Amino acid sequence: MFLLTLKDKQFKLFIPSEKIQEAVKKVAAKINTELHNEFPLFLVVLNGAFMFASDLLKEINIPCEISFIKVSSYTGTSSSGNVSELIGLNEDVNNRTVVIVEDIVDTGNTLERIIAVLNNKKVKQFKIAAAFLKPSSFKKNIKLDYVGLSLKFKKNENDFVVGYGLDYDGLGRNEKSIYVLA
Ligand code: IMP
Ligand code: MG
Repeated sequence: MFLLTLKDKQFKLFIPSEKIQEAVKKVAAKINTELHNEFPLFLVVLNGAFMFASDLLKEINIPCEISFIKVSSYTGTSSSGNVSELIGLNEDVNNRTVVIVEDIVDTGNTLERIIAVLNNKKVKQFKIAAAFLKPSSFKKNIKLDYVGLSLKFKKNENDFVVGYGLDYDGLGRNEKSIYVLA
């Protein structure tokens, strides 16, 4: 079996790129249908969402704008719990439909912080688009409008994944597929 080695850890294939691409196309189709009159502003959460955003937005065929923000909440394989401020939100979001584009929703802490900022700025509405969700760690009362794939782990499996924008200490973001700790 092929193992992806990143620093001190080994990862095995979890979701092949074909399956991710299929899921991303479905998300795009739903957004095209639901937001075609909204002139949405896509806010891509860097760094992790860059690959999802690139694939997703190529399939978006409605008028839209795209911008990038940054938050950081993770070091290594466990959540540090505190999420830093938003960097780079220069657009006027007042009365806009904003689509937050995230790589993965784990606890939802990151999303919660972004939403708090957007609510202060009086957006018309916000929608969430995430490539992946870890349903077992997500306990927030936040509506996830567009989720690519909900990740199901085996009982004995560590739920840390890399690839498709997701990293382990900065590594693995460039992989087309998703890998889980072996
Ligand atoms: P949350 O705030 O707990 O929802 O975590 C969200 C952020 O943590 C994501 O945007 C990712 O950048 C990072 N993250 C969560 N789970 C993983 C993982 O399994 N691998 C890599 N990064 C992750
Ligand atoms: Mg992230």
